Amino acid sequence: MKKILALALSLALAPALSLAGPPAAKQAGIEAKDYKWNAQEGEKIEALKLKGNAKDGKEGYEVCGACHLPSGAGRPDGTFPQLAGQHTTVLIKQMADIRAGLRDNPTMYPFAKELTDAQELANVSAYIESLCIPAVHGMYEGPDAAKQIADGKVMYEKECIECHKANGEGVKDKFYPVLAGQHYKYLLRQMTEIRDGHRRNANPDMVTIIKKYDNAQLVAISAYQSSLVMPGAMCKAGAAAKPAKKK
Ligand code: HEC
Ligand code: HEC
Repeated sequence: MKKILALALSLALAPALSLAGPPAAKQAGIEAKDYKWNAQEGEKIEALKLKGNAKDGKEGYEVCGACHLPSGAGRPDGTFPQLAGQHTTVLIKQMADIRAGLRDNPTMYPFAKELTDAQELANVSAYIESLCIPAVHGMYEGPDAAKQIADGKVMYEKECIECHKANGEGVKDKFYPVLAGQHYKYLLRQMTEIRDGHRRNANPDMVTIIKKYDNAQLVAISAYQSSLVMPGAMCKAGAAAKPAKKK
């Protein structure tokens, strides 16, 4: 555990280098055409069936916190996503997909690979979900922010709201992620990767929808998404690392 924590810290401190460098470990790549979205099989269902213990998950999260921060806030520059408050279902699916080579994440793969125990995965996920969503995060910054957000809102409400919901709260039992509080640059990168077929585990209905958006439109949608606020789930000022809800 000590060794892997030291590795996490060294990678977290040199994100540009580790992101640009060669993959830390080879993942068994799976082609998009062979992927059945969110098939309910393997370690994923095992972890989903278990009741996670947020208190026990705190220790397991320590290694994750080196990159995603102890608060779960990630980094405003979008290198490390904000995780706090994310649905356990989404966390478990993404972790399982990364481990299975369905979603490339060479920076994190060595750590995802270590989390083999279904109960521990359920516990760490429960802990992350219990964290409040930091209100301060990476947003679109430009003189035209108000226009971008307004344009993005129109597009979001037309085609994205059905799954990601009005405040970006997603749908837990359908594996639709929370978007509120997420960093602008991370959102833009993920949407571009999903549109261009590089995030192979993505929901096919979303892929079909997002295919027709150009880069400028994705900028506007990301600007809007990063402005979303989920009432009751956000951290109170100065309380970033404290769990929002008792479990
Ligand atoms: C060395 C840095 C690093 C460590 C340590 C790390 N991660 Fe990550 N994680 C990342 C990066 C980088 C991404 C985003 C990759 C991308 O852009 O697709 C990520 C993405 C994720 C995602 C996907 C988020 C989403 O919104 O889809 C989850 C879930 C996640 N990490 C959970 C964890 C957990 C749990 C741990 C601890 C076991 C952990 N991470 C440890 C770097 C790290
Ligand atoms: C049919 C439901 C559905 C629709 C419609 C949909 N999404 Fe998604 N979206 C998902 C799911 C599910 C994921 C998680 C990826 C996966 O593993 O399948 C996701 C992932 C994302 C992510 C990445 C989140 C993260 O934490 O990494 C973003 C950003 C996003 N969607 C934005 C959008 C936008 C913008 C639209 C509208 C143009 C949209 N989505 C429409 C279901 C949907």
